Amino acid sequence: MAFLVFEGLDGSGKSTLIKNLTNHLSNQQLTVTVTREPGGTTVGEELREMLLKKQEQPPCAKTELLIYEAIRAQHVEYKIKPALQSGAWVLCDRFTASSVAFQSGGREISMEETQWLNHFATSGLQPDFTVLLDIRYKDAQARMGNANRAEKDRIESEGAAFHNRVRDSYLQQAEGQKNWLVLDATQSEQTLTQQLIEALTAQGFLD
Ligand code: TYD
Repeated sequence: MAFLVFEGLDGSGKSTLIKNLTNHLSNQQLTVTVTREPGGTTVGEELREMLLKKQEQPPCAKTELLIYEAIRAQHVEYKIKPALQSGAWVLCDRFTASSVAFQSGGREISMEETQWLNHFATSGLQPDFTVLLDIRYKDAQARMGNANRAEKDRIESEGAAFHNRVRDSYLQQAEGQKNWLVLDATQSEQTLTQQLIEALTAQGFLD
């Protein structure tokens, strides 16, 4: 059992890597719960709508952070903790590091406040291992293809400067951390899956 988190810019390929790892773990008869933030619970999905839709008076930076944290508290309480207690592997698309990257890095809310709120929302639950799919903003954009402006949600519609700060924050968070794996997201999905399985084996999560 392990709590694994996948982080990266939109378009970095998190969902594909999660799908491939899920297949690998299921083939080894391991129980896997796949979940994501923002979302993962009924309340969370409703709050997610509020966050991502474009509106005349959008949530200000503080409201945005508080909503992500409200979603997270609900998610930890009703989905992540019960799954871990049942002995499942939990693969989570985004977690606390997203708030540090987007609301602290991107929106420039202080790191101290963001980390305090992360701790409050999670009651201190931390991932066992975090995978960062690192990619330059312009490469992620190119990969998402022709998603035009109207199809992008409120956060995706932020410009290059915002997303460059998000990426820098991710890299800073990963620096020197033994339980983070930084992968070059421009590699093939087979290579990425293999690198991840090797890292999980080296860390003792898999035989
Ligand atoms: P996501 O569900 O990954 O988007 P999509 O449905 O397009 O795959 O996440 C939605 C957005 O929320 C994404 O741009 C990142 C942002 N986000 C934050 O800004 N802070 C957070 O704490 C989290 C969890 C996500």
